[in-house]
Amino acid sequence: MDRLIKQYIIICETTSQMLNTDGLLKSKGIRTELMPTPGEYGSICTTAIAFAAEDKRNATKILKDEGIAESLEIFPYQSRKLAGLMNRLKDQIISSGFQQVMEKIENGEELTKEEIVLLLKCESKSEKAALFQAADQMRKEIIGDTVEIRGAIEFSNYCKKKCNYCGIRNGCATPKRYRMTVKEVMERVYELHELGIKTVILQSGEDEYYTPEILIDMIRRIKKETKMGITLSIGERSYETYRALREAGANNFLLKIETTNPQIFNVIHPDDDFDTRMECSRWLKELGYANGSGNMIGLPGQTEEDIAEDILFFKKMRIHMIGIGPFIPAKGTPFENYETGSVDLTLKAVAVTRLVCKNVYLPATTALASIDPDGQTKALKSGANTIMLISTPDKYRINYQIYSNKNMVDLSSALKSVAESGRQLPEYLKIHSKEVV
Ligand code: 5AD
Repeated sequence: MDRLIKQYIIICETTSQMLNTDGLLKSKGIRTELMPTPGEYGSICTTAIAFAAEDKRNATKILKDEGIAESLEIFPYQSRKLAGLMNRLKDQIISSGFQQVMEKIENGEELTKEEIVLLLKCESKSEKAALFQAADQMRKEIIGDTVEIRGAIEFSNYCKKKCNYCGIRNGCATPKRYRMTVKEVMERVYELHELGIKTVILQSGEDEYYTPEILIDMIRRIKKETKMGITLSIGERSYETYRALREAGANNFLLKIETTNPQIFNVIHPDDDFDTRMECSRWLKELGYANGSGNMIGLPGQTEEDIAEDILFFKKMRIHMIGIGPFIPAKGTPFENYETGSVDLTLKAVAVTRLVCKNVYLPATTALASIDPDGQTKALKSGANTIMLISTPDKYRINYQIYSNKNMVDLSSALKSVAESGRQLPEYLKIHSKEVV
């Protein structure tokens, strides 16, 4: 066996087959991990099972004995290298420390926390350019030039929580509260479907008015009538609820950790518990959701070391979709006079996340577009590959100001960023860039 191969991955045809196979291997003592399927083997929306090379013989035998080996594919898995990187960077003036980290990336080696911090702290124009260039190359090799476009419907701005940064926190007087009916949600879903969009994100505050029954009704209708992929972003719920929603057809779940520094987490979330948030993320993964997470950049007291820990957490948890956005003060919140997070540091965090987590969806976030008119284009050139269109009806979206002056990322602004960054629209989108620009 090739001594360089440390892991194997199993690719399954369906999610239930993946979960059953994982359960079977675990019950027989094989230590497995679920990871986004590496780009070269399939879509990153799907999940692969990874196990250590030393377990290869045992695992194969178990699958054969169970009669399921035939229907699965097993591949050796090696961390992705970035061939020719140093050659491309040869004209850039970079320090020797920075260069060593780039060499590790070229060779497909894992970065330590200190090395991640070094990248996040790089300040010179040429080092930043080199970092963005490396992340852009990694994105291109793994995902290609197509920008994934998704539609988000913010269906309720009621929230029971009082997160100190958030403009729709419980008690904040600014937004006029609204709740969309299932029928209103469906009208937007049809529009997205007609546009050819494949995945809809249903987002809201933590609003228990939407019982599991109502949410299940919404999910079933979307599935039955459009077959679209569904991402939920509705905050913390019980294991049972997460399970029921998954069984009803929800595919992905976006629950951001916001920061992995427990002290900062507690300061910004007066009525949340760090361990509960972590537990929810683990449940979601266990239930077979493609897991989304993310953080804010520029939180009070946050350092580059904290951001490095966030990135290592995304990697360890094998998060599929990572939303990284600057903190933006929201009127009427305890943090309204705090400083806005830096565009530069946010872009560096996006780039480093691409280099460390590699095969993941990285959105060019609305928050970035809100503080820099070119924010999305810059993010697309620094490792990002996804844009979320805000598809909330006009009469409601003005009240979904989780932060002040939230940019309304719509189809035309998304198409502009795609064109400006020299990228391609997905074939499924029933529109051409010529029509808009
Ligand atoms: N600034 C930036 N991002 C924010 N979010 C919420 N409030 C703010 C803010 N003031 C982000 C959080 C949340 C997502 C829906 O929006 O990351 O998870």
